[in-house]
Amino acid sequence: MSRKTILDVDTGTDDAVAILVAALHPDLDLIGVTTVSGNVPVENTTDNTLRVLDLINRSDIPVFPGLAHPIARRGFPGQRHFTPGTKGDMHGISLPLPEARTAAQSTSAVEYLLETLRRTTEQLTLVAVGPLSNIATAATIDPSIRDAVDDLVVMGGAHAHGNVTASAEFNVWADPEAANMVFSAGFPRLTLVTLDATHQALITRKDCATFAALETPAGHAAADLISRRIDAYSANHGARIAETAPVHDAVCVAYLLRPDIVTTRHLHVTVDTTGPVTVGRTVFDMRPNATGTPNAHVAFTADARMLVGLLVETWAHGQRSLRVPGDLTG
Ligand code: BDR
Ligand code: CA
Repeated sequence: MSRKTILDVDTGTDDAVAILVAALHPDLDLIGVTTVSGNVPVENTTDNTLRVLDLINRSDIPVFPGLAHPIARRGFPGQRHFTPGTKGDMHGISLPLPEARTAAQSTSAVEYLLETLRRTTEQLTLVAVGPLSNIATAATIDPSIRDAVDDLVVMGGAHAHGNVTASAEFNVWADPEAANMVFSAGFPRLTLVTLDATHQALITRKDCATFAALETPAGHAAADLISRRIDAYSANHGARIAETAPVHDAVCVAYLLRPDIVTTRHLHVTVDTTGPVTVGRTVFDMRPNATGTPNAHVAFTADARMLVGLLVETWAHGQRSLRVPGDLTG
């Protein structure tokens, strides 16, 4: 039986790849996608999500627009990592995919999460790969919804170093109060896939060629989107990352299908919300005599080859299409 899953996304390039797996792998039943402001403003994360689902003929999966701002801060909407239009711009405001043919639902992301998690008679899986604004709001309105979730898988946090600041990973930094609330909300299981893990699952240009050679819409789209990430990482990090890129959010979906793709430690994690230099930093209590009760299974490693194998397996069986050169590069 396929696993009923909800994705919460701020679609950008790596969220798009995560959707391409979650919507197409037969072992997952993607019942809904909620969007949030993050990589780009929520209007664009919603539009980008619709573009991805339309492209692979999965417009049957409803998309619910979520929060436009972090829960306790203003002045953030759609923080961009890099200058738009430059080679180092990883996501662009709109993904280079054909325009969406379908529309988002009128129900908001928070309403959808509350209704679905209150109503379900079986536990669902929730994968959150953007700032945690929607999840924190829903769990604050009705804390009991946590019991309807068998695993809340979050892409966020970092131990060795951040990406948006030296201390902080983007998703946690973008709404640190929300992240702290979610980490302490008492979900039965919370799996946190950190940058330390996702930076081990690097995808190469050769992998992109393999995805494109599958001759499926998902294979072509993934090849283009990940190539764009490799261009951006090469521009921003130079030789240190050597013609590869992490595809953070896809690792979370891959973990549902192949749990051993990551290795985890059960730890107490909190988020710094006040430090002028360290705001958004995830603090993992790794002391042998740690005092806090562990609240997250934290992934610090990930296997790149297992990830690539799973992506190929997922997209190989999609509808085949002969591509018009340049049709996704607009
Ligand atoms: C995370 O931040 C976003 O830019 C990506 O989509 C990913 O979810 C990585 O720090
Ligand atoms: Ca994301």
